[in-house]
Amino acid sequence: MKKDILTLIELEPSDFDLLFARAAELKSRHKSGIMDHSLMGKSVGLIFNKPSTRTRISFEAAAIQLGGVPVFMSVGDTQMSRDEPVGDTARVLSKYLDAVAIRTFSQDFLEEFAAAAEIPVINALTDTHHPCQVLSDLFTVIEKKGSCAGVKIAWIGDGNNMAHSWINAAAVLGMDLSLACPPEYSPDRDILGRAVEKNSRIRLFTDPMDAARGADVINTDVWASMGQEDEQAARKSVFSSYQVNADLMSVAANDAIVMHCLPAHRGEEITADILDGPRSVVWDQSENKLHMHKAILDLLLGNFNT
Ligand code: CP
Ligand code: NVA
Repeated sequence: MKKDILTLIELEPSDFDLLFARAAELKSRHKSGIMDHSLMGKSVGLIFNKPSTRTRISFEAAAIQLGGVPVFMSVGDTQMSRDEPVGDTARVLSKYLDAVAIRTFSQDFLEEFAAAAEIPVINALTDTHHPCQVLSDLFTVIEKKGSCAGVKIAWIGDGNNMAHSWINAAAVLGMDLSLACPPEYSPDRDILGRAVEKNSRIRLFTDPMDAARGADVINTDVWASMGQEDEQAARKSVFSSYQVNADLMSVAANDAIVMHCLPAHRGEEITADILDGPRSVVWDQSENKLHMHKAILDLLLGNFNT
């Protein structure tokens, strides 16, 4: 049966382990100049309905570096923009492509596409989840900290798509995750509730200091996500005390690292000195999207051979 990556909850801990190991192997081979060809003759569709720099280009480069071909489609250029049903589109594209990554607003759109598709479907970001980002971020945590087991992770800011993917990853892997969000911007109650049932070390605070105290990894993201541009001003005032800055870092572990999926707004959710400072691993995080996306394509296309 085909495997999709839609929310991370559908993955087993062993899938995470395979992805981390494969990403490390592919990264090392790439740095040594070794070419891999596991996607030779395969086509990977990229259906995007929101802007992207990192996710789009790293998936395109991932497919090319593995010998495959990326096929980019803006939703507006497809017949879906003229009301062709999502399910019909998924059935047709399944005959041309070997996998598809989708960035869109609604999780329901993604899941409807996946239900009708005969090929693996990858969530490249919806309003509700950003699973591939958290997979590559966990890979970065492992590189920096040796493991994600026993590492205390903090999430500061919006209870958004990124927060949900961290929550789901923590539910599957049993990690220690503390989130601090303004009450009116808490994570989705159902997503959090289901995760806490699996892992009681997922905790929600309102005071950022409570989440950051002793943390090994401090994570944040924009205060207004794509599609929330009209809320930017209102959110800026609510989130003003949820900034990752030197004060917040002073309560984290001495060797804590700072992560941000980017794009970042210096002076809003994170200060420039922290984002550009020695504890920041954001550029390694961005790089690792390429290696993790290669591992994801290999896993979903059932091809771990080179
Ligand atoms: N982090 C991330 O998903 O970036 P893009 O929006 O540029 O793809
Ligand atoms: N939460 C952000 C993540 C961007 C990569 C957004 O959805 O815009």
